[in-house]
Amino acid sequence: ISLKKYNTFGINVYAKRFVEITSIEELKKIITQETDLFLLGGGSNMLLTSDIEKLVVHLNLKGIIVNDTKSDVVFVTAEAGENWHNFVTWCISQNYGGLENLSLIPGNVGTSPIQNIGAYGVEIKDTFHQLEALEIATGKIAVFTNKDCEFGYRNSVFKNKYKGKFIITNVTFKLTKKNHNINISYGAIKDYLQNIKKPTLKNISEAVISIRQSKLPDPKEIGNSGSFFKNPVVALNDFQILKTSYPKIPHYVVSENEIKIPAGWLIEQCGFKGKRFGETGVHKKQALVLVNYGNATGKEIYELAKKIQQTVLNKFAVSLEIEVNVI
Ligand code: EPU
Repeated sequence: ISLKKYNTFGINVYAKRFVEITSIEELKKIITQETDLFLLGGGSNMLLTSDIEKLVVHLNLKGIIVNDTKSDVVFVTAEAGENWHNFVTWCISQNYGGLENLSLIPGNVGTSPIQNIGAYGVEIKDTFHQLEALEIATGKIAVFTNKDCEFGYRNSVFKNKYKGKFIITNVTFKLTKKNHNINISYGAIKDYLQNIKKPTLKNISEAVISIRQSKLPDPKEIGNSGSFFKNPVVALNDFQILKTSYPKIPHYVVSENEIKIPAGWLIEQCGFKGKRFGETGVHKKQALVLVNYGNATGKEIYELAKKIQQTVLNKFAVSLEIEVNVI
């Protein structure tokens, strides 16, 4: 079958064999029968460059369970196949706080910990309690605490030492019922909410949705995978050299000796913003987002990515690391 509607980039590659999984039992059975699986959740963080020979397993486990025994916090467990934004919206409707800044992020709950999804000053590691995952080699369910996941910027153990070893089946978040720790540090959120004295979770979510819609293309209309590259972190010395040539270079201090530079700025300075190359291109409102105008192949998008990396490297001596999974 075509995987076009299963990946937000809208790349038309084919899977020879495809199975949809709706229960843990089915999943356990599959891993004993097959050795090589290709796991597919929301398909929001992958660039498919060729047909998939492995058995494609579309994880469609659904359900939300609430453990509400404490006065101030609540533990909410969502199955891996729950759509991320629907889950966030549901939490807000219950007045459970902590995920509102992560509104409108494409993808499913089960893949959110792999890259520690984040936006507007919040990452899932801030409210992540634990997850359950099926170990492919043994068929046993393992529990990973926040510490076990070794979360970092768009990173976790599931991108490193446990890559391909576990299938995340559900994720539990520790959310607030009152005295929410709201985060409106991001300038555009602050601006959006300037007339509201005590913003509610819903107000913040609306601000985030409005900001995202103004910058990021809707994958239903234009294929994309959000930020294609990570924002590079450079040594303070290297940053100071850049700053003498580009006094206005935007940046965030990560640590005493490390500075993060927005990749979108570097790419825009190289003249790529809004440029179209056949069926692919760089989004006109956010240079960090590569797009598929309809019929691009994964290879074409990958070629564009390499060209951008090379151009940024030549101009700024900064390497851009690809954030999406290139397959
Ligand atoms: N910028 C430009 N030109 C552009 C885009 C950005 O100059 O075309 C500069 C501007 O100075 C701007 C700054 O970059 O102020 C930051 O831009 P923005 O706030 O849009 O965020 P970002 O750093 O490009 C990151 C995340 C996004 C997340 C936003 C908001 C990464 C790789 N990306 O983007 O996450 O939504 O911050 O928190 O860290 C994603 O991971 O898919 C994603 C969309």
